[in-house]
Amino acid sequence: MNFDFDQLIERKGSSCIKWDGMQKFLGAGEALPMWVADMDFLTPGYITDAIIKKAKHGIFGYPLREESYFTSLMDWLQRRHQWKVERDWISFCPGVVPAVNIAVLAYTEPGDKIIVQPPVYFPFFTAVTDHKRTLVYNHLVMQNGRLCMDFENLETLAKEGARMLILSNPHNPGGSVWTKDELTQMAEICLKYNVLIISDEIHCDLIYKPFKHTPVAGISKEISLQTITTVAPSKTFNLSGFSTASVIIENDSLRRKFIATLDHLHIGGGNIFGNIASEEAYTHGDIYVDELMDYLARNVETLEKFVSENLPQIKVIRPESTFLVWLDCTEMGLNDKDLNEFFLHKANVGFNPGIMFGPGGEGFMRMNIGCPVSTLIQGLMRIREAFTN
Ligand SMILES: Cc1ncc(COP(=O)(O)O)c(C=O)c1O
Repeated sequence: MNFDFDQLIERKGSSCIKWDGMQKFLGAGEALPMWVADMDFLTPGYITDAIIKKAKHGIFGYPLREESYFTSLMDWLQRRHQWKVERDWISFCPGVVPAVNIAVLAYTEPGDKIIVQPPVYFPFFTAVTDHKRTLVYNHLVMQNGRLCMDFENLETLAKEGARMLILSNPHNPGGSVWTKDELTQMAEICLKYNVLIISDEIHCDLIYKPFKHTPVAGISKEISLQTITTVAPSKTFNLSGFSTASVIIENDSLRRKFIATLDHLHIGGGNIFGNIASEEAYTHGDIYVDELMDYLARNVETLEKFVSENLPQIKVIRPESTFLVWLDCTEMGLNDKDLNEFFLHKANVGFNPGIMFGPGGEGFMRMNIGCPVSTLIQGLMRIREAFTN
């Protein structure tokens, strides 16, 4: 092992949302934070070193993204996901959620119908409603312990005139890694009815064995020409604080519209440290990601074993990707307010309530296992104790 994921790093007092925002955002300052999607692991040393080197230069004017920045991303996507992307297809965005919002602004008009697939990462809802577009749901269905797409309903919504589909690929929460077959079926519906695909692939590097990420746009040229993909190193390498993401659009006219909207908002400049961190991560990150995923897989095993031996009221939806685990707590028989109250104030652990992720989230909680195993066990013991009491 090159990286020590067991290491406990004090994050309290470091001005981070996950630990220092517990009181403000969850109303429980002392609960163990296992919520917002960042991990309690050190980012690889070569990233930190590159940032320190830049910081020591001491001048922080407007940054330029060098060709090596783009090459590192293209090589990463080719190496890790067998997706060949051209330099000209890539533009910058200060975050994946901003990219989704910009896509909504660039390609749709107020009133247009946009499909999201709940339960799903909640900023997708506001990306639609904040801009006065109409939210339409293609509810995911739980089949054999996995969240799956409802293609029949998707086709109905597409036929009824939806303009856009916002996809979490792979899926947050629930961790489904959409297969090539599933994505092809989904994309064929979108092509047939001219529905633009916005594919949020921020979690694409966090895939458990033996699953394999499929970039939607990598399936065929036809699909690529109707897809906006957004990726970032932020979840994988714990770099969310740098607000740095990339948007990949093969279709010239769609790309021009995206960039024009970005430029109108004057937010295409980027972050001097984010550029460096992104390039370092994509250039050197393979071993880190492989070791990280092995560690997280062991955390999933620990979680499943503990829950099956001690917490029969809870069912773990086994993630195929991500460090975010969807817990089915419906057998506890509590309403969502009491369920949240139980975890937050009785067990003293800070999870995200499932209902935040929209319909289908009732009776669920989302747990973040991106932490040393000792922290994970601490959280689980707190829950066991709360049940005992
Ligand atoms: C599916 C998904 N998309 C986007 C984001 C956030 O992206 P950004 O911080 O780049 O806006 C998250 C963070 O948890 C996420 O889970």
